[in-house]
Formats: sequence, structure tokens, C-alpha cells
Amino acid sequence: MKTAISFCLLICFCITSASSTSQTTSAKKILIVYLSRTNNTKAVAEIIQKEVGGTLVALELVKPYPANYRAIVDQVVHENETGFLPPLKTKVDISQYDTVFVGFPTWGMKLPPPMRSFLKQHNLSGKTVIPFNTNAGYGIGSTFDTVKELCPKSKVLEGFTTKGGIERDGVLFVMEGEKEKEVSKDVNTWLRAIKIVK
Ligand SMILES: Cc1cc2nc3c(=O)[nH]c(=O)nc-3n(C[C@H](O)[C@H](O)[C@H](O)COP(=O)(O)O)c2cc1C
Repeated sequence: MKTAISFCLLICFCITSASSTSQTTSAKKILIVYLSRTNNTKAVAEIIQKEVGGTLVALELVKPYPANYRAIVDQVVHENETGFLPPLKTKVDISQYDTVFVGFPTWGMKLPPPMRSFLKQHNLSGKTVIPFNTNAGYGIGSTFDTVKELCPKSKVLEGFTTKGGIERDGVLFVMEGEKEKEVSKDVNTWLRAIKIVK
């Protein structure tokens, strides 16, 4: 009898500790930080937040980029050549988070300078970093590789990318209707594949 009671207590203990472990895992603090000019990457960030929760933060600059497309392209080329890191208006207490999604468009086939500023200014060591991207159809370029380079002590998971706008041709926001449905489905598949959702 005594043995049976001890056995039951042991089982109860195991169940309790297992459930508290899974609670700790799901209570992990998630940050979704993104850069977006024409709101396509922002829309993907919002889809991710619907799936995983967490805090959504838009990266804003002290000195915003010009509205004119040609002017921003030229400025970004210059910033990439000189390694300029644009000062950020957005402030984040990164110590609050274990998992950090970082979202950005492809700019000049590279990681946009403001996201380089963010990754250089925040200590992401020991955290899980998950990139996501939109682009005009030319792909991620070197963006995901640069995230890995700038987060050498983080666990960088496989990223997500989808076609967004083509500002050069006047196509700005595309994440609505069928496209939004398709992206929501693809985001869910990706989050399952990287085991962020079950
Ligand atoms: C300065 C600049 C440079 C860009 N360079 C590229 C590029 O090299 N390759 C590409 O596929 N799209 C490029 N694009 C298009 C954006 O990546 C695409 O429109 C993206 O969906 C925009 O995201 P957003 O709406 O979140 O700003 C560029 C856009 C801008 C403004």
C-alpha cells in the first residue's frame, strides 16, 4: 500500500514538473522587430504575432529616409559603401526577450542599414534569432547571411521570405486578399518547421 501511494505521488510529481516546464517554454518572451517602408514586412510581422504572440516593434530612425524612391536607393548605396549605421529612434530593452524575430525588406540585395544598426547595438548572445524578409522578387540577397554574421553567439533559425512590393514599378502594398491568405498559410508552415508552433 505504502509503495502504491509513493508511486502515485511520484507520478503526480512528474506530471506537475512536466507541465510547469512546458509553461516556461510557452511563456518565453518573444520580440518581433521589423523595418518596413511600404508595410509589406509589417504585414508579415503581424501575421507572425497572431501565431506566436509577443511584442511587435517597428524600427524607426532619428532621421527618416526620403520618400522619393530614387533618393532612398542612392542613400542606401552610399550607406552600404561607407558602413554607416543610421541612429535609431526606437529603443528596446533586449534583456526582456529570449526569442527575437527580425524582419526587413531586401535593399540593394543587402540587409538594410537600420537593421544592421539594430543588430550591432543589441546584445543577442544566447538568444534565438529568427529572420524574415520581403522583396520585389529578386530574393533575400545576402540579408540572412549578414544576420548570422552579426549574431555570432545567437541561435539563428531558418528564415522566411516572400515576394512583397515592387516600389520601383509603383507596386507598394500587396499583403491583402489572396496574397495575405497565402502568406498566412506559408508562415504557419514555416513556424511549424522551425518548431516555434506545434
Ligand atoms: C531602397 C530600396 C532598395 C530595394 N532593393 C531591392 C533589391 O535589391 N531586391 C529586391 O528584390 N527588392 C528590393 N526592393 C524592394 C523591397 O524589398 C520590397 O518592395 C519589399 O517588399 C518592401 O518591404 P516593405 O513594404 O516592408 O518596405 C528595394 C526597395 C527599396 C526601397
